[in-house]
Amino acid sequence: MALDPALLSEVLAGLDAAPRTLPAKLFYDEEGCRLFAAITELPEYYLTRTERALLAAEAGAIAAALPADASLVEYGASSEDKALVLLDALAAAGRTARCYVPIDIAAPALTALTARLATRRPGLVVAPLAADFLAPIALPSGASPPRVGFFPGSTIGNLEPTAARAFLAQARATLGPASRFLIGVDLRKDPARLLAAYDDAAGVTAAFNRNLLVRLNREAGADFDPAAFTHEARWNEAEGRIEMHLVSRRAQQVRVAGVTLRFSEGDSIHTENCYKHSLEGFVALAMAAGWEAPRMWTDAGATFALYLLAPSGGG
Ligand code: TRP
Repeated sequence: MALDPALLSEVLAGLDAAPRTLPAKLFYDEEGCRLFAAITELPEYYLTRTERALLAAEAGAIAAALPADASLVEYGASSEDKALVLLDALAAAGRTARCYVPIDIAAPALTALTARLATRRPGLVVAPLAADFLAPIALPSGASPPRVGFFPGSTIGNLEPTAARAFLAQARATLGPASRFLIGVDLRKDPARLLAAYDDAAGVTAAFNRNLLVRLNREAGADFDPAAFTHEARWNEAEGRIEMHLVSRRAQQVRVAGVTLRFSEGDSIHTENCYKHSLEGFVALAMAAGWEAPRMWTDAGATFALYLLAPSGGG
């Protein structure tokens, strides 16, 4: 399968820029989805299990703050597990959701998720949407208001602050006046713990990062030698973010879709950012994007936070 032309031009523009970058949505081909699922189980990757435990502990309180008969819209639904905790808590509170709309860029993974739900929750109305949620989206017609947005996994941290603000403002428009938005945010902490989470001993995150090159070889006629690039996680203190890089181990030339790229030893392709917000920093970001009245739940170690937002001036 070849990359679609729009994604290929993003790839070529990124590889031509200084510093070189690749679009993060490229991570999620089938192998990337499999590797990401493995990352969420790693001992060093505390994010998923911390958020899952927090959600399980607070689901009742969260459900009590959500509208009845809502459409639950999940942005970046790689697994149904977290949504089910919420959906079950809503049902237990007598506020059963009318439908669940998982949105994800990875169509095959979304199909698998929908099939699993047919077995796990046969009565649940599921309306999957295979889309890039950073672009404007049209929700399925059944996803009527009130809508509850759900953006777990600290995916908000993968967006530059300006893009995060734009995304939050767009979600406010998509979700509508009486909506609520529940967002999982990984918090600032000891850089050593952050670095370990993004550079695990088993090398799964390294494989996830290098899989970008494997994918370009297959889908963009590239001839990367993935072993000639080192996975590096770096903490950027000034920006408050973990960066993932693929660093060239030697001088080399690579062809991508007919274009020749030259790398010197140590040249990097910057592949991802994971911003780590402070508790107040995230509130400021959300308020700048048209959300208000934040409620917040965090674990005992203030590792991870769940924020519940309401649109300002409406509902
Ligand atoms: N949003 C999660 C995080 O920032 C998951 C994620 C996105 C991720 N890109 C990643 C995890 C790259 C590891 C590597 O942690």
